[in-house]
This record gives sequence, C-alpha cells and structure tokens, in this order.
Amino acid sequence: MCAVQLNDELEALRARVAKLEELQARSQETEKQLVLSNQRLAGILSIAQDAIISIDAQQRIQMFNRGAEQIFGYTAGELLGEPLDVLLPDRFTKPHKSYVEEFGKGPDVARMMGERREILGKRKDGSEFPAEASISKLVQPDRQIVYTVILRDITDRKEKEDELRASREELRRLAAHIESVRDEESKRIAREVHDELGQSLTVLKMRLTSLTGEIGARDPSLEHKLQELIDNVSVTMETVRHIATQLRPSLLDSLGLEAAIRSHVEGFQESTRIDTVVDLEKLDPEPDPQLAIALFRMVQEALTNVARHSEATRVMIGLKKVPDPVPFLRLEVSDNGKGFNIQKTRRNSLGLVGMKERAFNLGGDVSVQSQPGRGTRMIACIPLEKRQ
Ligand SMILES: Nc1ncnc2c1ncn2[C@@H]1O[C@H](COP(=O)(O)OP(=O)(O)OP(=O)(O)O)[C@@H](O)[C@H]1O
Ligand SMILES: [Mg+2]
Repeated sequence: MCAVQLNDELEALRARVAKLEELQARSQETEKQLVLSNQRLAGILSIAQDAIISIDAQQRIQMFNRGAEQIFGYTAGELLGEPLDVLLPDRFTKPHKSYVEEFGKGPDVARMMGERREILGKRKDGSEFPAEASISKLVQPDRQIVYTVILRDITDRKEKEDELRASREELRRLAAHIESVRDEESKRIAREVHDELGQSLTVLKMRLTSLTGEIGARDPSLEHKLQELIDNVSVTMETVRHIATQLRPSLLDSLGLEAAIRSHVEGFQESTRIDTVVDLEKLDPEPDPQLAIALFRMVQEALTNVARHSEATRVMIGLKKVPDPVPFLRLEVSDNGKGFNIQKTRRNSLGLVGMKERAFNLGGDVSVQSQPGRGTRMIACIPLEKRQ
C-alpha cells in the first residue's frame, strides 16, 4: 500500500470517528433531555392532587403517584405490580375490567374530562368513595398498551350537592306549605268577610229600607238622604262580595272550576278591555278541590300578569283533559303582548315561581315560553291523580 492510499484511508477513518463523536454527543444530549423531561413529569406527578395511576395491559399497577397514595391510603410500594382491582369495590371489578379492555380495543385514545364517568373507589381501609375518573391509553413500541387513569375523590362535592338538593327540597316543601296556608287563610277571611260583614250590611240595608218606608211619608227630604245611604250600603256590599270572591272564589266551591274561571275572565275583560277567548272543556268529574284551586290561581296570576306587563290586545285561555301518558289537565294562557326575556326576570317576583310550586306540589309542571315582541304562553300540566 502506498503512502497516498494510506493517507486517504486515514482521512476517511478520521471523518467517521468525527461523525461518530457527533452522534454520541447528540445522543447524550437527547438522553439528558429525556432525564430532564422524566424529572419534570415526576415533579408534576408528585404534586398533582389527583390520583394518577398507570396500568399495563393486564391491568397491573405500574405507577401510583403521591395523590393516589393520599386518596387510597396505600403507598406506591405496596401496590406496584398488584392488580387494579384492589382499588375498586368487589362488585365493580368485573365490569370495570371489561370497560378498560373495551376501551383498549376501541379507537378512542382518551376519554376526556368532559366524558368523565362517575365511579366508586375503595380505600385501603375498605371504605368506598365517589370518584370521577378519566382514562387514556398509549400503545408502546412493543405493541403493549399502557393505560393511565386520572381519578379525583369527589366526596366533598357530592356531600355539597346532596346538601343543596336537600335544602332545595326543603324550600319546595316550605313554598307548598305557604301556598296551602295562604289558601286556607284566604278561605277563612273570605268566609268571615262574606258571612259577618255581608250579613251586617244586609241587615243594615233592610233596616234602612224599612226606616225609609216609615219616615218617607212624613219627611221627603229625609227619605232622599236615606235612599242615598241605602245606595252607599249597596255599593259597599258589592265591594265586600268582590273582595270575598277574590279571596276565595265561592263559585269554585258551588259551581266548579269552569264557572269560576269564566266569572273571573268576565271581570278581567270588563276591567282591562282585552279581548279574551276562552276554551274550557267541561270536566266530569270535577277535579278535586286542591287541583281546582291551583288551576284557578294560575289563571288568576297569568291574567294579572297579562294586565300588568303584557300590553296585549288578545288573550287565549284553554283548559282540557289529556288522557296520555297519564290523565292530566292542560291549562294554557297565551297572549299576543310584548313578551319578555325569561332569563332576565326579577329574582324577587313570585308569581311565576308560585305557579311552578303549585304545579310541582301536585306532581305537575309549568312551562313559560316568551320572547320580547313575541307574546307569552304559559302551559301547566297537572296529573289528575297526584304522582308519588
Ligand atoms: N304575560 C306577560 N307578558 C309580559 N311580561 C310578563 C308576562 N308575565 C310575566 N312577565 C314578566 O315576568 C316577570 C315575572 O312575573 P311574575 O308574575 O313572576 O312577577 P311579577 O308579576 O312581576 O310580580 P308578582 O310577584 O306580584 O307576581 C314580570 O315582572 C314581567 O316582567
Ligand atoms: Mg305576577
């Protein structure tokens, strides 16, 4: 081999060594980055309050962070290599196992926060707790799947939700109680106003009439004054009757719901001059008194709202019996007025809330549909037999 050839080969060798050195440097850098990134991940895992647990394809625990230790009461050392089942109540282990397997076979890479499922976890001491979990999967280069579960203990939230539900329920019962007390009270006052005051006025009117007969012949000017008094008493009697009817529609008791609504509508039309169409089905048998008063009060409130807020020129009131899915009464009051934005109703107005509570108390529901400029429609559906 000549010197020139040797030199060339030496050069090529040097170039290869330089290339190898560069590759080695790059790989060291990558390794450093990998270590850094692992440290960063470990840092995140250790401060996360959620439990972060990785399992292999056989659902054995591969990683168990500090959050998981705190939530479940195990140390990572106790659980690495153990089946995930230890963290679940026995009755859920089977379905959960197949859920994870199914997820492994499916196209989803992760079931995200929004699709979180609520499950129950089991602590080391055997106690159970409600949890929210999400799962992701990673197919490794050797085709083995690693799942990572992120889980949060939601005991506190659940308790708060339960408390909130209970206090709402309590408020509902209270509202229903207030409505019924109000109805009873109105009934009592109406009776007293009608019977006591009404009777006294009737007697007064009779006395004045007979007095007019006695005195009139002797003193015509006194007769005129007495007649004025009688007229006054008549007007007062009419007012008393009106107040009593407002408090407790006596027609509701004597002639039934349909007559009571018609009579109320008559008064409404007279005082507001709003064109009112009434389409009431004859109910046979009459709905029970609690249901009848509820529907009557709803018509009253809806019409008061029409008069106070709607600027409508036309109102429609419909009441009919619907046989399905269970026999119920459907009351509708709609107007062609200015409508309103339901989201923006005042928090302290009680009319619509009262209607809803009355309906709810009888196992039914009220919906109000309205939009500015598009009129308002109130629909109440109440079962004829109270649902339990
Ligand atoms: N038919 C209607 N047309 C237009 N706006 C309406 C109608 N009915 C209700 N509203 C709107 O909805 C609001 C709430 O009605 P709601 O009956 O609950 O309270 P309210 O009538 O203001 O007071 P109240 O507690 O005395 O009934 C009203 O203030 C009004 O703005
Ligand atoms: Mg109102």
